[in-house]
Parts: sequence; C-alpha cells; structure tokens
Amino acid sequence: MGESVVVETLDPCRMAPEDALRCARLLTSVWPPKEPPDAPPAPVQNMPSHAGPSAQAPARYVIRLPDGEIGAHALVFAREIVTARGRETVLALAAVCVKEDCRGLGWGREVVRKALARVDAGDFAWALFQTSKPVFYEKLGCRAIDNPIINSAASDSSAPVPWDPVVMVYPAAALPEGAIDLLGPFWQAAQSAPGRPLFRFATTSSAIRNGTAS
Ligand SMILES: CC(C)(COP(=O)(O)OP(=O)(O)OC[C@H]1O[C@@H](n2cnc3c(N)ncnc32)[C@H](O)[C@@H]1OP(=O)(O)O)[C@@H](O)C(=O)NCCC(=O)NCCS
Repeated sequence: MGESVVVETLDPCRMAPEDALRCARLLTSVWPPKEPPDAPPAPVQNMPSHAGPSAQAPARYVIRLPDGEIGAHALVFAREIVTARGRETVLALAAVCVKEDCRGLGWGREVVRKALARVDAGDFAWALFQTSKPVFYEKLGCRAIDNPIINSAASDSSAPVPWDPVVMVYPAAALPEGAIDLLGPFWQAAQSAPGRPLFRFATTSSAIRNGTAS
C-alpha cells in the first residue's frame, strides 16, 4: 500500500448525503442490484443511532480516490449472539469491497485491518462474518469455522442463515465449539430495529431483501 493511502472513518448513523451516495456507487458497482438492473444507486441509509457503548459504535472504513469517490469500503457494527459461552457482543464485518480498477493495491487489506483493529484494541472480543473470499481473510489472521449457524428468532431456527459459503472469525482462536445463534438475520446490527436493512439494495435474492453481504 502506498504511504499516501489513508483509511478514513465514516459514521454510518450520520452519513453526509454525498458520501452516502459515493458508498452506494461503489457497492452497486461491486454488487449490482438485480431489479431494476440499471436503476441509479440509492444512497446508503443511515443506520439507527448507536445505543450501546461508544467503543462498539458502528463505522464505515473507506479509502477515497483523488476525486472524492470511495475506492474501498468495509462496514462494521456490533452484533449480539449466543455461543456455548453465553450471550456476547461481537464485531460484525460486512460489505467489504474495492473498486474493480483499484484491486491488488492492498486497499482491501487496509480497510479490513482497520476493522479488525477494533478487536485488537479490545473493543470486541472477536469478529464474526461470512465471505466468499476466505483466503483473503486468512492472510489477515481470520479462520473459517464450521460451527452450526442458527437464528432462533426465525420460525425455522435450523435454516441456514449465511448466504456466503464460508463463516469466519477473528482472531483465529476465538470460538468455542457448538452452535452460534445470531438471534436474528445475519445482517442485523445489535442496536438496529428488527427488519431494518443496513442499506437498501443488494445482490443476491436473499441479500436484496436483507440489505447487505460481506
Ligand atoms: C476481495 C477484495 C476486497 C480484495 O481487495 P484487494 O484490495 O484487491 O486485495 P488486497 O490487494 O488488499 O490483497 C491483500 C492480499 O489478499 C490477497 N487476495 C486479494 N483478493 C483475494 C482473493 N479473491 N482470493 C485470495 N486472495 C486474495 C492478495 O493476493 C494479497 O495477498 P498478499 O498479501 O500475499 O500479497 C476485492 O477483490 C473485492 O472487492 N472483491 C469483490 C467483493 C468481494 O468479494 N468482497 C469480499 C467480501 S466477501
């Protein structure tokens, strides 16, 4: 990564309208909405105000291009789950992406490092996320897990809730055996109102309804 590249922190609860649109432009370029295919991007929605500890506030970590557009993006937020250890608040990582012509420059690594630094700093004990690119995350100290993922808030709690093929944790040694109960859909933030998506568009059929993908 060049020394001039800076990872900026945006508050997902109070996005400037221009940045909400810039994030949407990047996200829709990576995950085009299916219907209608050529609709202009809708700005990402503000997340509900964070009601938990300030150390666990959500953030969008971005790298900006010289023209102000956003070239790399990662969203983090607190999520409450239940493991064999009991109820815990963990760092959720989502919507990690880099503009196509900026890939291979270390930008993805830098926004994810900034996100995982919240765990290193002790704000969260560990991070949990789903992905289709496990090797990228393994290089950053994450580990794929095969714990069953359930959502006891759904009518069928045995239904597979992640839509990406791999669920990972950081740090690698973070987790006890046994099921992880998300107590809601995979995308839902601990402090968000039930049913409220993180942003208004997405890519796969489930993500279109649900709001975001990692
Ligand atoms: C995956 C993605 C975020 C990587 O961003 P990037 O800026 O190109 O990656 P970086 O340049 O920071 O790469 C860091 C390291 O990961 C590796 N890497 C990057 N993408 C990878 C991939 N798809 N599979 C395996 N390794 C990958 C790089 O080779 C590099 O390795 P090195 O440290 O040994 O040199 C980017 O390709 C992207 O936006 N893809 C589309 C959206 C997506 O799939 N997001 C992932 C979340 S599921």
